[in-house]
Amino acid sequence: MTMTLENKRILLIVAGGIAAYKSLELIRLLTKAGGTVRVILTKAGAEFVTPLSLSSLSGDKVYSDIFNLTDEAEMGHIELSRDADLLVVAPATADLMAKMANGLCNDLASTTLLATDKPVLIAPAMNVRMWEHASTRRNVARLGEDGIHMVGPNKGDMACGEYGFGRMAEPDEILAAISALLGPGKLPLQGRTALVTSGPTREAIDPVRYLANRSSGKQGHAIAAALAHLGADVTLVSGPVEIADPVMVETVHVESASHMLDACTSILPVDIAICVAAVSDWRVDSEAAQKIKKDKSGEVPILNLIENPDILATLSKKSPNRPELVIGFAAETENMIDHAKAKLAKKQCDWIVANDVSVPDQAGSTGVMGGDKNQIHIVSASGVESWQEMNKQQVAADLAQRIADHFANFGKTE
Ligand code: CTP
Repeated sequence: MTMTLENKRILLIVAGGIAAYKSLELIRLLTKAGGTVRVILTKAGAEFVTPLSLSSLSGDKVYSDIFNLTDEAEMGHIELSRDADLLVVAPATADLMAKMANGLCNDLASTTLLATDKPVLIAPAMNVRMWEHASTRRNVARLGEDGIHMVGPNKGDMACGEYGFGRMAEPDEILAAISALLGPGKLPLQGRTALVTSGPTREAIDPVRYLANRSSGKQGHAIAAALAHLGADVTLVSGPVEIADPVMVETVHVESASHMLDACTSILPVDIAICVAAVSDWRVDSEAAQKIKKDKSGEVPILNLIENPDILATLSKKSPNRPELVIGFAAETENMIDHAKAKLAKKQCDWIVANDVSVPDQAGSTGVMGGDKNQIHIVSASGVESWQEMNKQQVAADLAQRIADHFANFGKTE
């Protein structure tokens, strides 16, 4: 993927977090892509990286102090914020995000962010508990409403020894997000719209019980994020999952298969639809209004099941709104390729991504369902492509690239 930021001016704000060291690599990537980088370093940021390293890489002086008369005379905070095509905050700490969400400004970074009329991209980095805290959730939602773009955070090991969401996005991911904002047409799926379903559905039996499938949502969410990283405008329709909404993706939360179908059809038309959700095949014919009580005689209730709508088959039906590329998943425990071929024919989609969910992962624990690895086979009218086992993020990234290649090479039909 070629990313050119020729003649683009980026104002990079480096706040105080351990991830600040990655901002050095980010500057290198940005300048390599042809961009010009000017840096604001907060007081806390200077505890993690030195102005000297930042200015050596950016080739410019580093701005830090709002009360520095020389700086203000040379390039005041208003000019700093207006002279850029994009403001990037990496790392964006919980503190700076809270200030931004509330319009507070008491240093050069926060004042510049409040004074700007340019797009702003933040790359949050913090401890998982801080990321999950109710006040950070509120601030993230507010920043989204204010039109602030966000990349990451990713899930993983943290410098503090904990594990979870809060790791700053990698410099190449931040570069991709910057290119998506500044380089229209430069990303392969720019201008394409995509719909992804993910997670399980829950079919209520009564107000406290439900039927559901096993699904963590990891693969579907990763695919939605990967498509967005390649520039697609992505809507994710997710059943109930324990993982965070992906960034740069609009997420619609649903419970049942019927809700999922309604949400999907209301999003049409789109160019690409990928059904990754583990939709419950059945629901009870009539949901009990009150909790079903145990019968004193010991008789167990009989649930009458009816079939749920098939979302993939509905989206694949010939119609003016049919997405150009419809992809289904087939989680199988035996005869995978044969079942996948049968599903392709039955559902009339363009590709089936088949995976064997009977194989435990290498750690011998949960296998594909809930695990982090996946081995897929793409079954289409052109044959079967078998991929080696990869982690789900990599499967998502490669699948998004494969989709981009499909559009680049074959246009509307393959
Ligand atoms: N799917 C769907 N709506 C349903 C059932 C399945 O959109 N009601 C989609 C899934 O998201 C997946 C594909 O269809 O992309 C295949 O799902 P799977 O459960 O493997 O297939 P089924 O059609 O349910 O067949 P079976 O359970 O008999 O294997």
